[in-house]
Amino acid sequence: VEFDFRVDPARLRALKSTKWREFGPDVLPAWVAEMDFPLAPPIKAALAAAIERDDTGYHDPAALPPVFAAWAGRRWGWEVLVEQISILPDVVTGIAECLRRLTPVGARVVLSSPVYPPFRAVIEQVDRVAVDVPLTESGDLDLAGIGAALTAGAAAVLLCSPHNPTGRVWTVDQLQELEALAAAAGAVVLADEIHAPLTLPGATHTVFGSWSNRAAGADSVVLTSAAKAFNLAGLKCSLAVAGSARVAAALEGLPRYVRNGTGHLGALASEAAFRDGDDWLAELLVQLDLNRDILATLLSGHLPRIGYQPPEAGFLAWLDCRKLKLGDDPAAEFLRSGGVALSSGPAFGPGGAGFARLNMGTSPALLAQIVQRMAMTGR
Ligand SMILES: Cc1ncc(COP(=O)(O)O)c(C=O)c1O
Repeated sequence: VEFDFRVDPARLRALKSTKWREFGPDVLPAWVAEMDFPLAPPIKAALAAAIERDDTGYHDPAALPPVFAAWAGRRWGWEVLVEQISILPDVVTGIAECLRRLTPVGARVVLSSPVYPPFRAVIEQVDRVAVDVPLTESGDLDLAGIGAALTAGAAAVLLCSPHNPTGRVWTVDQLQELEALAAAAGAVVLADEIHAPLTLPGATHTVFGSWSNRAAGADSVVLTSAAKAFNLAGLKCSLAVAGSARVAAALEGLPRYVRNGTGHLGALASEAAFRDGDDWLAELLVQLDLNRDILATLLSGHLPRIGYQPPEAGFLAWLDCRKLKLGDDPAAEFLRSGGVALSSGPAFGPGGAGFARLNMGTSPALLAQIVQRMAMTGR
């Protein structure tokens, strides 16, 4: 099947969502984690059919779980029972609600910085305390550091798997060791796997707790959605999959106002994605695999002093701009003198100073313009 991954800047400038509007018409946006490609045809058809039916009521919570369970088995060999699944409005709401129900007020929650900024924000917003255990020099999870934080009393680990912003995919050994550490400490693991469907050739994603030998048996929950892989963030639908009985009971207790925050169109679009999206996703991954190489070529041509480790998953590139001497927040400089909006490194916490995150979920032509605009600053 041939899908359309062309990107038309005129169409994008006419969008009414935030990515292309936030910075106005003169700035090229490469910030928020949304892609510029047209929707997958099965999703577009499902949404158009819903509008045609005037079908805009509350979502049916029974519809999506079996479709997701089938996808999880097909894609990851992950056996999921529909009883384990809760449908929620979005992943960050799932994180907030799980922290509220699985840890006490004031609990310490481990995160591996630099990491997706809302992790820290949401921990603080639910009155818990973020404990940074930075990634190692090689960009790996610091399992010894996490173990020490857990021994010292941290109640939860908020894992980003694959990791945003670095695009690292964690190995099954790392994940199993993390589970053992959490189990020994009686801590819960919250695994945000929203980028997992975007695992690129060469890497293998393992769902947290999907291994058969769960003797270690930490409490855990996997939070995921179709939103990043299929570009559905504004439609509001995610899934929380309980990995233990205690977590399942906590999710069962979620209030109606949380569950009813799920968008019906989001649930329908997610169903179409998980049931009929495999072919489109396969072609998307070909495009993203190309893009990460194209970015390497563009950077070595225009900005060779930027450090770039291509991601193993996703469409985000974590750029080490320290040799450009643009200060702690190179994204601010790229915006000011290049008219290109990247995400600010320092927002990602310790390890973010001197870095910027670039969104390459776009066409090679726009990617080239993004780098050319950055080069106006960074020469
Ligand atoms: C790691 C991670 N988690 C969660 C989200 C946001 O997901 P949601 O809109 O479902 O809360 C993002 C978006 O970029 C993300 O990168």
